[in-house]
Amino acid sequence: MDISRLKNESDARICAKMMAESEPWRTLQRDEAASYKIMIDPIREVYIAKQDDSVVGFVVLVMQGAFVGYIQSICVAPINRGQGVGKKLMTYAESRIFQQSPNAFICVSSFNPRVQTLYQNLGYETIGEIKDYIVSGHSEILMRKSIGAINDFVQK
Ligand SMILES: CC(C)(COP(=O)(O)OP(=O)(O)OC[C@H]1O[C@@H](n2cnc3c(N)ncnc32)[C@H](O)[C@@H]1OP(=O)(O)O)[C@@H](O)C(=O)NCCC(=O)NCCS
Repeated sequence: MDISRLKNESDARICAKMMAESEPWRTLQRDEAASYKIMIDPIREVYIAKQDDSVVGFVVLVMQGAFVGYIQSICVAPINRGQGVGKKLMTYAESRIFQQSPNAFICVSSFNPRVQTLYQNLGYETIGEIKDYIVSGHSEILMRKSIGAINDFVQK
């Protein structure tokens, strides 16, 4: 499996479709058009995992703004789940983030408890609950993994 920066429109469309067809984004009402906008937004960094030249998953990072090192979305194609792709994408995202900042942030939907456990096992701590954040009636749980304080951090 190979992880690299998203470079072309056809891969962006594949990722957008994968996202729009999967939970939690179905419940969060993020359709394919909205997902595609995220994929091609220059503010975001999108990294895709490919196996035999097919996209099997992706991760979207935001490396600017208030919470630098925000893992906005991670998704693995349903057929490729449970085979270690998600964990490799998370490790890749963290190595990118920790070059620039000592914190990785991620939000997980309140109706997605299995993924909360996955992030806890990867070293993420729950910061707090943001109620009615994306859709009414559901919360987003903000989680953080840290390798130290900002003032002690030396950029790589
Ligand atoms: C969450 C997601 C990215 C994880 O990717 P993945 O490739 O399936 O996960 P991995 O195979 O790398 O497994 C990571 C861990 O989750 C656990 N896991 C994987 N599938 C599981 C399942 N069906 N049930 C319980 N645990 C599971 C694994 O045991 C593994 O932990 P371990 O290595 O300590 O055993 C993927 O399942 C996905 O795209 N889900 C839908 C989108 C989503 O919820 N994204 C997160 C939004 S915040």
